[in-house]
Amino acid sequence: MPRLPEDLPELLERVRAETAGSVGTGKVADYIPALASVPADRFGLAVATVDGQLHGVGDWRERFSIQSISKVFGLALTLGLDGDRLWQRVGREPSGDPFNSLVQLELEHGIPRNPFINAGALVVTDRLLSVTGDPVGAVLALLRGEVGDDGFGVDPLVAESEAAHGDLNAALGYFMSAHGNMDNPIRIVLDHYFRQCAIAMSCGELAQAALFLARHGTLRDERRLLSEVQAKRINAIMLTCGAYDAAGEFAYRVGLPGKSGVGGGILAVVPRLCTVCVWSPGLDDQGNSIAGVAALERFAQLTGSSVF
Ligand code: DON
Repeated sequence: MPRLPEDLPELLERVRAETAGSVGTGKVADYIPALASVPADRFGLAVATVDGQLHGVGDWRERFSIQSISKVFGLALTLGLDGDRLWQRVGREPSGDPFNSLVQLELEHGIPRNPFINAGALVVTDRLLSVTGDPVGAVLALLRGEVGDDGFGVDPLVAESEAAHGDLNAALGYFMSAHGNMDNPIRIVLDHYFRQCAIAMSCGELAQAALFLARHGTLRDERRLLSEVQAKRINAIMLTCGAYDAAGEFAYRVGLPGKSGVGGGILAVVPRLCTVCVWSPGLDDQGNSIAGVAALERFAQLTGSSVF
């Protein structure tokens, strides 16, 4: 069983100091133009524990675009509200391909490999639209409820920028529609998907919002969003698919369920213990934060928290 040290702030400072060399390396995402202006030298790291502690270092209170990290919360809500029906429309295998690839979707008849690549997240958003009528509203309500703060939301400039440069996501959506794997109008699904990706939150807020995954499905107010089995399975999909075509490397280096986003954030879960969120905008070729992966690797080593 991994253990966190008494002096958690000191541990986080040590992780920051030992990974400082990789901050600023890599490339800030620019295929969504509104993300390109984020300074590459930012670094934030926060830990929220199941017994109620919250600690952070660096820019851990600064809000950033959560991007694909939002896919974890969309999936959790969809499974929690609608059960396993989703799995008829999306798989649970790592893709080994870039997160916005069209090729695999054609070969596999419009069924995305997993819910964390863009095509899979569009299917989840479509289902959540059918179930709630307002997927981005439902995701925001979950996030705000778990953080206990409604001071964050969708960054409209990022959402507009995504929509204006979202042809590839539109292609994925229309392609799946042609295969009968979309129930709602694609432009409405895309609008919710873009706004969900454009939610801006800090490392501290994201770590708090995801604690239900470390608590096996139980929300802050002790209501259950997910069964224990569902929560374990989301953690499993994060481990195998959360870093796209670098998921194997992430498991090898960090050994924790994790989900990255092209805003430079990575959210990781240590089941039964804590959540960790790191942010640094410089990305590797697969779209994962270089300093973020390095920091999580060091955190997992120092705490013995790899699940392996
Ligand atoms: O749809 C997109 O391409 C972005 N809104 C999200 C991509 C993303 O974060 C993938 N992450 N590594």
